[in-house]
Amino acid sequence: NSIMKGGYDHYMQKEINEQPDSVLQTMRGRVKFDQKPKAMDPSWDPYHEKRITLGGLVDRISTIRSGRRIMFIACGTSFHACLACRQTMEELAELPVSLELASDLLDRRAPIFRDDMCVFVSQSGETADTLKALEYAKERGALCIGVTNTVGSAIARSTHCGVHINAGCEIGVASTKAYTSQMVALTMMGLALSEDSIRLRSKRNSIIDALGVLPDQIREVLKLDAEMLSLAEQLKEEQSLLVFGRGYNYATALEAALKVKEVALMHSEGILAGEMKHGPLALVDELLPIIVIATRDRMYQKMLSVVQQLLARGARLIILCNSGDSEMKEICASGGSRLIKVPETVECLQPIINIVPLQLLSYHLTVLRGYNVDQPRNLAKSVTVS
Ligand code: AGP
Repeated sequence: NSIMKGGYDHYMQKEINEQPDSVLQTMRGRVKFDQKPKAMDPSWDPYHEKRITLGGLVDRISTIRSGRRIMFIACGTSFHACLACRQTMEELAELPVSLELASDLLDRRAPIFRDDMCVFVSQSGETADTLKALEYAKERGALCIGVTNTVGSAIARSTHCGVHINAGCEIGVASTKAYTSQMVALTMMGLALSEDSIRLRSKRNSIIDALGVLPDQIREVLKLDAEMLSLAEQLKEEQSLLVFGRGYNYATALEAALKVKEVALMHSEGILAGEMKHGPLALVDELLPIIVIATRDRMYQKMLSVVQQLLARGARLIILCNSGDSEMKEICASGGSRLIKVPETVECLQPIINIVPLQLLSYHLTVLRGYNVDQPRNLAKSVTVS
């Protein structure tokens, strides 16, 4: 058993630590980082020096591009991966993107049309609600695309085409490495859909360059393990933990909160920071711990102001920011806020880096609180009944 866990105490811990490699596996053979111009090679095309090839989608790219919208359909953590990549997909594919929790789509019997491109994201490929939503979409004539981690799974078999995320077998009930690989796969899908756009070329190239160094950056952020253990020591007796994020990192807030509630059995809520004044602010006092995700992206100035408003109310903050963020350091200098410093990447990939210390935090909280890490009470790895 301990051999299966690769020397780690739990599968969740092993799977968190595998992420430098699992995201690399997701990209392997699909991302061409740099194709240097071969002198005298007339076929070299400077516009396509960085390319994404998704074998399962190559024949469908133009169909997807001509669709009326892209609909992401998933449950739980897989849904959060879709949420994290929605903006990337909107910006790269330049199509309307909608998100559906599979159960809610079915409850509402939401309209789906023949020219909808439905993307079903599922680690196991066996989740009953996602599978039923897939049947529902197929009956309505939509193109159904699967993004799964399990070759031969029901969703992989029933979709018209798709992408395997190749993260390797995930055993811990709490999804960790599948989440980061799903985000990499969906980003690659966005890149593949925008390959012909000259206007987006420099943006695409910077995302592809950032994908190249992502495994090393995850390796770097995993070094925060001891710091997350000490933070978990500080938080282990708490009743509740809030997580604020916005933009690309709203998903990070929801996912971090799901991890904390699912395995550490602590109440936790992910909150869209833009909604703070519409209710959640009433909860803020000197006692309730709040994690604020404030890495440098388009939302940074807004997050700085959120931090200032929370500090003005004496809030107990844990701020996740980029290493070398002196502005944040200065703002927090006087209060007792704790900073979690993570490496910087392009904004659409930052959620992949940001979730890692929060996965570690939820892992350590679970161990310190004495709960079952790999099999939390009442939960199953794949939810095959609805
Ligand atoms: C994640 O930690 C959960 N165990 C759960 O939310 C899970 O992501 C959800 O049940 C969907 O599973 P799937 O990705 O296998 O479809």
